[in-house]
Amino acid sequence: MSDMLKPSRRAFLRGSAAAAAGLTAAGAARANGPDPLITEVQDWAVVFGDGVDATPYGLPIQYESDVVRRNVEWLTADTTSSINFTPIHALDGTITPQGCAFERHHSGAIELRKEDYRLMINGLVDTPLVFSYADLERFPRENHVYFCECAANTGMEWAGAQLNGAQFTHGMIHNMEYTGVSLRTLLNEAGLEAAGDLSDKWVYVEGADASSNGRSIPMEKALDDVLVAFKANGEALRKEHGYPVRLVVPGWEGNMWVKWIRRIEVTANAVESREETSKYTDTLADGTSRKWTWVMDAKSVVTSPSPQAPITHGAGPLVITGLAWSGHGAITRVDVSKDGGKTWETARLAKPGEKMALTRFYLDTEWNGEDMLLQSRAMDETGYVQPTKAQLRDVRGYNSIYHNNCIQTWHVKPNGEAENVEVS
Ligand code: MTE
Ligand code: CO
Repeated sequence: MSDMLKPSRRAFLRGSAAAAAGLTAAGAARANGPDPLITEVQDWAVVFGDGVDATPYGLPIQYESDVVRRNVEWLTADTTSSINFTPIHALDGTITPQGCAFERHHSGAIELRKEDYRLMINGLVDTPLVFSYADLERFPRENHVYFCECAANTGMEWAGAQLNGAQFTHGMIHNMEYTGVSLRTLLNEAGLEAAGDLSDKWVYVEGADASSNGRSIPMEKALDDVLVAFKANGEALRKEHGYPVRLVVPGWEGNMWVKWIRRIEVTANAVESREETSKYTDTLADGTSRKWTWVMDAKSVVTSPSPQAPITHGAGPLVITGLAWSGHGAITRVDVSKDGGKTWETARLAKPGEKMALTRFYLDTEWNGEDMLLQSRAMDETGYVQPTKAQLRDVRGYNSIYHNNCIQTWHVKPNGEAENVEVS
């Protein structure tokens, strides 16, 4: 096929839009000239495709090569203690493929064989225990879908609109189906009689990497829904997500989801480690700091259109879509505004919200081809409504970093491009 005859995707879509509007495909073709994609025999229809031995483990097709994690060079001094971002602007549905799910390491992703893996439970327990990977596989398993959001997600946006893309402003999040053993099961195996009254006890969890990323978790949460997980989305955890075993702490800040978990100590007090004092702590407007902020409050973002996912068609039908989540439970409603929060329309949830998991929303709308100040606002089952940036700053001031769950604004221009902006 000569290049001149190659149809643009846009022309093809014009044809399908015409068909949807009630014109026959032939009518559309008459209007635009013959459509070579329909009238010519294409290369792919006359040759054999790849055999079943070509790709023992499949990767995305080359045309999707831009759907990848990205980091922001100036954010961190080096890439071993750093972060990259999930390409949420290019994904749909709710499950994040492991291969493009954000990574956050404090001392790099380590390589640990299952055979070399050990998990110790010690401290105020009846019998200190050490489990091998094979031991963990013999306890009853559970499956749950949960989001994991780094407390630093959206953290660069406190002082003003900063990074131009949903991937960078909101991409420190992923949502996977985990398979694992409940932490309750393992703690009961070690026995908690020795701990006495459990209501004021803690567990201190640490990883096998150089940073150890030690965190204290109140016993109430540890006995509730925390998982010691070894599979994500059906397959082994990827190295960067904690292979072979990580902790899953539903609804709570990502920092507590200790990867390569090697030790769980039952303690009488919180350890007050680096990760829960000087880091992951919220500065308030009056200059004091809040001691603990574990639960991730309700939040949402429009993933498309957005700066990396501009509108590529003219006025008319437009699908606005995004993600909503809450660490307090299920998302019950998401509203979308096209005018910077003056008026709101209720979006359609793809499925009823699930506790501590991402919810996909859609607003199937008509675009008039004019400027939009696109926003989304999430509500969860507790009645909590996602705050505006101004409301959050009233409490937290301008110098905060972590736990920024404010409403995001994209300025969508008549040419379809979008930009990260702030509205007052
Ligand atoms: N666990 C260990 N052992 N080391 C780490 O550096 N980073 C934490 C947490 N668990 C970290 C860790 C942080 S800050 C986050 S947000 C999550 O892991 C990120 O998990 P992910 O890399 O699978 O996305
Ligand atoms: Co984090």
